[in-house]
Amino acid sequence: MGTGIAQLSAFNGHDVIIFDNNPKSIQRSRESLLKILSRMAEKGKISESDVKAIFGRIHFVESHTAFSGCDLIIEAIVEDIEIKQSVFAELEMAISKDCILATNTSSLSVSAIASACDRPERVVGIHFFNPPFLMKLVEIIPALQTDESVVKKSIDWISSMGHLPVKAKDTPGFIVNRIARPFYGEALRILDEGIADAATIDWAMTEIGGFRMGPFTLMDYIGNDVNYTVTETVFKAFFYDPRYKPSFTQQRLALAGFLGRKTGRGYYDYREGAEKPKPDKNPELGQYIFERILYMLINEAADALYYNIASREDIDTAMKYGVNYPKGLLKWADEIGIEECVEALDDLYDHYLEERYRCSPLLRQLFFENSNFYDS
Ligand SMILES: NC(=O)c1ccc[n+]([C@@H]2O[C@H](COP(=O)([O-])OP(=O)(O)OC[C@H]3O[C@@H](n4cnc5c(N)ncnc54)[C@H](O)[C@@H]3O)[C@@H](O)[C@H]2O)c1
Repeated sequence: MGTGIAQLSAFNGHDVIIFDNNPKSIQRSRESLLKILSRMAEKGKISESDVKAIFGRIHFVESHTAFSGCDLIIEAIVEDIEIKQSVFAELEMAISKDCILATNTSSLSVSAIASACDRPERVVGIHFFNPPFLMKLVEIIPALQTDESVVKKSIDWISSMGHLPVKAKDTPGFIVNRIARPFYGEALRILDEGIADAATIDWAMTEIGGFRMGPFTLMDYIGNDVNYTVTETVFKAFFYDPRYKPSFTQQRLALAGFLGRKTGRGYYDYREGAEKPKPDKNPELGQYIFERILYMLINEAADALYYNIASREDIDTAMKYGVNYPKGLLKWADEIGIEECVEALDDLYDHYLEERYRCSPLLRQLFFENSNFYDS
């Protein structure tokens, strides 16, 4: 991620310093940047002299002291709270008093990271998506301690590079990794209940729903170990809210080493000669699967708005540009009709009597007021 963020910044005219405590990572970063830039030149996106200029703006260093003249530092190291806190405390000793300290963490609390600093008001979350150069969305997460001017500067900097900043509250999963949970979780539940197999669920979400990738293809792509860990982290971070409960199916795949594409086996078999399972293209079943997952996503987006995690516009932008959903979920709910969404969720709740399917208070309120997300 660090290399990608450096590429984006240098491409936009900034001088960048890359530091890593593993010299091999620095070497890998240098080689991959050169490769990426050369490929961009081969494709005619930039000239050879651009390659030289962009690469010339990136400096690889072997010590924190090189950061003394920086205006902004973005940490993209291992996802471990104690290591991040100690690196932030160390960095503070080497930098100017106005330098902004940002973390690219996906799952840790920005407020907890900031608490390790003498000047926590300079700490902010700047969360990029992979790969940072291509994925336009960036979540800006103020810690409880963050000064408003730091948030504004972060938003302005991201916008100046043509990316899309959205502001999120410092809560587990921020916007995208929170709202996207049912895309995986409800798909797994449908699989676990034996309603449909992975191929059929993937077919329903892509062919009927218009999503770029089905949930199981996507989980195999992300890696079942990574996806399971995120699910478990979010579940624990939400004080074991049953809505985020992980699935045994996914846990067992991760434990078995069936991690997806990278190990040749996951929900699907990627080994040579393996046959791809065919979906059951029953239109009624497909529609049921698509709607059930979509309503759960809409419910999650409504709840995020209800709890002021982000504005309605930022929630819709985040899902469109962070995970390439075909539409913003709140806009989608308006198009379908709030009444339909509430009825569908109530039907699920009536059937299962599980907290997981309780309709968001905001959706119900909009329904009672005969209103919707963008009119209210
Ligand atoms: N991979 C993604 O898709 C993704 C997306 C968004 C955010 N993130 C976040 O970005 C961060 C980095 O993720 P990644 O996937 O690039 O990880 P990575 O393992 O590829 O890279 C982390 C780098 O940090 C270095 N490092 C570890 N400890 C260090 C220290 N004390 N000082 C300096 N360098 C140190 C490692 O040598 C390694 O090169 C994490 O916080 C992760 O949650 C990752």
